[in-house]
Amino acid sequence: MASPLRFDGRVVLVTGAGGGLGRAYALAFAERGASVVVNDLGGDFSGTGKASLAADKVVEEIRSKGGKAVANYDSVEAGEKVVKTALDTFGRIDVVVNNAGILRDRSFARISDEDWDIIHRVHLRGSFQVTRAAWDHMKKQNFGRIIMTSSAAGIYGNFGQANYSAAKLGLLGLSNTLALEGKKYNICCNTIAPTAGSRLTQSVLPGDLVEALRPDYVAPLVLWLCHESCEENGGLFEVGAGWIGKLRWERTLGAIVRQRNQPMTPEAVKANWKKICDFDNASKPQTIQESTGNIIEVLSKIDSSGGVSTNHTSHAASTTTSGFAGAIGHEFPPFSSAYTELEAIMYALGVGASIKEPKDMKFIYEGSPDFSCLPTFGVIIAQKSIMGGLAEVPGLSVNFAKVLHGEQYLELYKPLPRTGELKCEAVVADVLDKGSGLLILLDVYSYSGKELVCYNQFALFLVGSGGFGGKRTSDKIKAAVAIPNRPPDAVRADTTSLNQAALYRLSGDWNPLHIDPNFASLAGFDKPILHGLCTFGFSARQVLQQFADNDVSRFKAIKVRFAKPVYPGQTLQTEMWKEGNRIHFQTKIQETGDIVISNAYVDLVPTSDILAKTPSEGGELQSTLVFEEIGRRLKDIGHQVVKKVNAVFEWHITKGGNTAAKWTIDLKNGSGKVYQGPAKGSADTTFILSDEDFMEVVLGKLDPQKAFFNGKLKARGNIMLSQKLQMVLKDYAKL
Ligand code: NAI
Repeated sequence: MASPLRFDGRVVLVTGAGGGLGRAYALAFAERGASVVVNDLGGDFSGTGKASLAADKVVEEIRSKGGKAVANYDSVEAGEKVVKTALDTFGRIDVVVNNAGILRDRSFARISDEDWDIIHRVHLRGSFQVTRAAWDHMKKQNFGRIIMTSSAAGIYGNFGQANYSAAKLGLLGLSNTLALEGKKYNICCNTIAPTAGSRLTQSVLPGDLVEALRPDYVAPLVLWLCHESCEENGGLFEVGAGWIGKLRWERTLGAIVRQRNQPMTPEAVKANWKKICDFDNASKPQTIQESTGNIIEVLSKIDSSGGVSTNHTSHAASTTTSGFAGAIGHEFPPFSSAYTELEAIMYALGVGASIKEPKDMKFIYEGSPDFSCLPTFGVIIAQKSIMGGLAEVPGLSVNFAKVLHGEQYLELYKPLPRTGELKCEAVVADVLDKGSGLLILLDVYSYSGKELVCYNQFALFLVGSGGFGGKRTSDKIKAAVAIPNRPPDAVRADTTSLNQAALYRLSGDWNPLHIDPNFASLAGFDKPILHGLCTFGFSARQVLQQFADNDVSRFKAIKVRFAKPVYPGQTLQTEMWKEGNRIHFQTKIQETGDIVISNAYVDLVPTSDILAKTPSEGGELQSTLVFEEIGRRLKDIGHQVVKKVNAVFEWHITKGGNTAAKWTIDLKNGSGKVYQGPAKGSADTTFILSDEDFMEVVLGKLDPQKAFFNGKLKARGNIMLSQKLQMVLKDYAKL
């Protein structure tokens, strides 16, 4: 036998407890140990008059059985007073059963203002007043149970009860929100729609039914919902005659009746009416997020597909093929998109490249001689290529509100061209059953002309669609790899700007979740969140900076797992571990310590491969001979020069617009040194110029100052130091 549900020490307020259902509740609570406030105004069923007799009789009945009860004769409209009786007599309030009610039945045309108002005052406003008076006490004690009494008349409508129906369904709305607001204080609020014989129903029910439908057959549900062990919250129950059922909302799949850049017309609504009202495969939204989440899907469908075919719904997509097998191998429509330096720069700014960091100039200034696209820009056009088609994959009915970007893999076969057009071919590589959800692997191949430039794998997680008995792993998946178990070798942090998501979205992910506070709150976030792929871009940039000196030709591949959302303004801290050419990393929010990208890595192209490749065009660089010669000369006069100059100079020698070699002339340490590659430590000044111009300068044919002003020579860092270098270089004009 289950132990009896007791209410010892609990104080229960039942409104309208002088008769009918309220009386049954009051007696049942008292019998199980509760101290009960028996509230009743004592008027007639239409709300006329008042008397203390009804409440007194019930109190007397409880006391005669040894129970604890006190009467209150106020109208529920004076909620404070009603609750005060509980506090004054018993010192607390644990349970409120809003039950008091009256009727003013009239056909709609005959409802007077008074008939309308009094019904709303007693049912809706009365429940509000009483509940509000108890609310803070419940919050403080971290416990409360509340019942709202609705009616089938409100849920379904009932002839002659327009005023009553409206107020009764208003109570359901009130309860739904209190359930959400009270949850964290252990306050649960539920609604019942009872059927019982009472003075309210004796005019509508046959006499023997009034007898048979005893209020005692409703009270046990109310007691259970009000017990401390019951966690039901926000429910709606029909109850009567010993039967109890729960209600919920159901919604058709519906139809999109608008096309991009076209007006929405009533004719389109008419044409789709059958589909709008078709409950086959209906969903059952339980929260406002679930309900409104599909708005995001609708917007993205309309926006990305350039119009949605009106005779092809997600319903059709979910039923035309059997199961998910139909999805695997599905090819998306081919997609091409051109870009210029503008898009590449906008992307770089979106993922935090900044003029604060001189070495970032190549990503944000098209005039930089070594201007480059950030490698992770490779996800942008690939992502655009799958955005529209996801809803059209056969065998999948995608609810975009439940899609999470789980993981991302990107591999580059060569650096992205600085401008160009990428053609993308996307295919569903596999569909996995992860139990709590379904994982779709989408492979996207991006070509520049006929050449494969990069490959992306998007792993998208559909929450709640798993458990269909499908396979759990796939040899197609690019797996995430755990980070080494030791302190990181390097850590870099970048604070994102409050405008980070606003800036990043300009690269093409227009999801309002990242900019519109209303959308964000509908999706369950406090405010708009940063795009996962924006964090991905930040982390990749930090790794590239730390271990490849921003050299995009060294970037081979990246894999990340998205673990948590980031809010714009937070600081992204990337911890890195170098293991050969693989840089393992994870990214944290510095302020909270939360890991937002986990089990990630970047694979770099070994430097030896790069050196073997450059200079590929135009043969040997002439400048190489000069640097080597400077190196030899320094051996004799190094000490002297170091004293005079005291600076480290880095050179980026370009050929055909691309960096072909890097050299460092160290005139700061020891007796000076010249070596190939970027400065070990930091350079005071970096020069960028073409092999040819370099030769012109050292041969004295090109004045460095002029070269600087006409853009042939770029210099970063301490430019004044270049004066001193000129002094040194002049000696070589004789070469
Ligand atoms: P009832 O008339 O027996 O009980 C209602 C009680 O509320 C009465 O004792 C009345 O004096 C009291 N009351 C009315 N106005 C008040 C006010 N301003 N302040 C304090 N007390 C006030 O009716 P019954 O059937 O027990 O109804 C209880 C609740 O259940 C009502 O809210 C009613 O609308 C609802 N309901 C009942 C159904 C049924 O089949 N009995 C069906 C659907 C809803």
